[in-house]
Amino acid sequence: MIWVRWLLLLVVGAAASAFCPSGCTCNEDMPEVQCVGVTLNMVPMLLNPALKNLNLAHNRLRTINQELLFYENLEKLDLSHNLLSGLSHESFVAQRELRQLRLSHNNISSVEKTSFIGLSKLSLLDLSSNALRDIPPDTLSHTPSLQVLLLSHNRLHSLAVPTFRGLVNLERLDISENYFRQLPGTAFTELSELKSLDVSRNRLVEVLEGDLPLPRLTSLSLDGNSIENIDAAALHYLEALEVLSLSNNLLSTVPTSALSALVSVESLSLSRNNITELSAGAFVGLRRLTTLEISRCPMLSSVSAAALVHCSKLRTLTLSHNPLLRSLPATLFQPLADLQALDLRGNSLETVEGGSAPWDALQALDLRDNSLVCNCSLRWLAELLAQPNTTILDVQCAMPDNLRGVHLSRSVAYTSCLAFRHCDEDTISVATEVDHDSQSRQS
Ligand SMILES: *[C@@H]1O[C@H](CO)[C@@H](O)[C@H](O)[C@H]1NC(C)=O
Ligand SMILES: *[C@@H]1O[C@H](CO)[C@@H](O)[C@H](O)[C@H]1NC(C)=O
Ligand SMILES: *[C@@H]1O[C@H](CO)[C@@H](O)[C@H](O)[C@H]1NC(C)=O
Ligand SMILES: *[C@@H]1O[C@H](CO)[C@@H](O)[C@H](O)[C@H]1NC(C)=O
Repeated sequence: MIWVRWLLLLVVGAAASAFCPSGCTCNEDMPEVQCVGVTLNMVPMLLNPALKNLNLAHNRLRTINQELLFYENLEKLDLSHNLLSGLSHESFVAQRELRQLRLSHNNISSVEKTSFIGLSKLSLLDLSSNALRDIPPDTLSHTPSLQVLLLSHNRLHSLAVPTFRGLVNLERLDISENYFRQLPGTAFTELSELKSLDVSRNRLVEVLEGDLPLPRLTSLSLDGNSIENIDAAALHYLEALEVLSLSNNLLSTVPTSALSALVSVESLSLSRNNITELSAGAFVGLRRLTTLEISRCPMLSSVSAAALVHCSKLRTLTLSHNPLLRSLPATLFQPLADLQALDLRGNSLETVEGGSAPWDALQALDLRDNSLVCNCSLRWLAELLAQPNTTILDVQCAMPDNLRGVHLSRSVAYTSCLAFRHCDEDTISVATEVDHDSQSRQS
């Protein structure tokens, strides 16, 4: 192999540095070559051997043979969107300086234990959108500097215990859109520095104790699985976790005892679950929680007055598009002294109590698409909406019949709204068309 390389270097000689294939862009200063979407079917061999960046994305490469041996100084190599079906033995053995290797959107169904030999400085490996069924143990032992490993959209369903052995620098792992039914907890034990883990869109049904032994993890996505159950101790090690998404699963209750271990969590999403109720103290222990999202839960019909008592740091609450939610307890929002944005859009709320939150201190309030009954109980809202500097989104009345579709702000601005006429003495009331219509109907 070595003699082949020297022979070729000899033949090619000094002329190599000047060669730039047609359709490519060559920057001799970097030096860098981009040959993107030019139907190449092999890696060009006559480029500047001092090349640092080589981008061959969107071509027709099917294999990589010896060509890369010419480019020992490469730091970034992009082979994404090609037709590679596998990586053979020592494909990158000369790439001792390589930091980023992009192989996404190929058709790679297997890698060899020896495929990544030589990549001792590699920090980013992108193998997403391929056809990988497994990663042989020890494959990644040749890439000890790896910080980011992207394996999304493959066919992985399990990972052997030693898969990640030695990856003490790995900070981000993406195994979303694979076939995992269980979290590969024993493989994760090697990832002592992992900060971000994405396991969304797999086939998980439960999360068990020992599945997430990741004490440095700050961000975890379990979106789009079929999780029905989270063991009480399953999240115990996640004391550094700041962002957790459990949306689009099959949870039927808030997993309160499991969540209570998450002392650092600031953002939690439980949207698109089968949750029926938010019970008292549902978020106990989540003392840093600032953002909570519970949207599009088709079964959610009941919220306890004490559901949010432990959420005193909450700044953004999204409780929207829950079609069975007809009312909220008047005291629900009282513990939320720091609340800045409240999204209650698309529920079936008929009314909202004026005294239940510091409404005028909110920077954003969305009550659109509910079933609001525009009677005197909503006068506080009409008045807020009528302020010229309001940040509140306008809402339409659903009831009574004569006000259906009327915007609440207009109803006050034009004093055309029957709803507020009799609320108290100082309500201005001018006879209008709306007024007339309903009066004539009444008489
Ligand atoms: C991908 O590889 C499989 C075999 O592993 C082959 O059957 C298929 O045709 C390949 N797809 C493309 C687009 O080359
Ligand atoms: C959702 O919950 C309801 C009632 O709690 C149950 O009947 C239904 O099977 C659940 N749906 C799923 C997809 O788990
Ligand atoms: C306004 O309508 C709501 C919802 O139907 C009802 O709960 C409330 O008591 C009504 N308020 C008044 C003052 O009629
Ligand atoms: C809007 O204006 C009113 C009176 O002009 C004032 O009291 C209120 O604080 C203002 N609100 C905001 C959000 O600026």
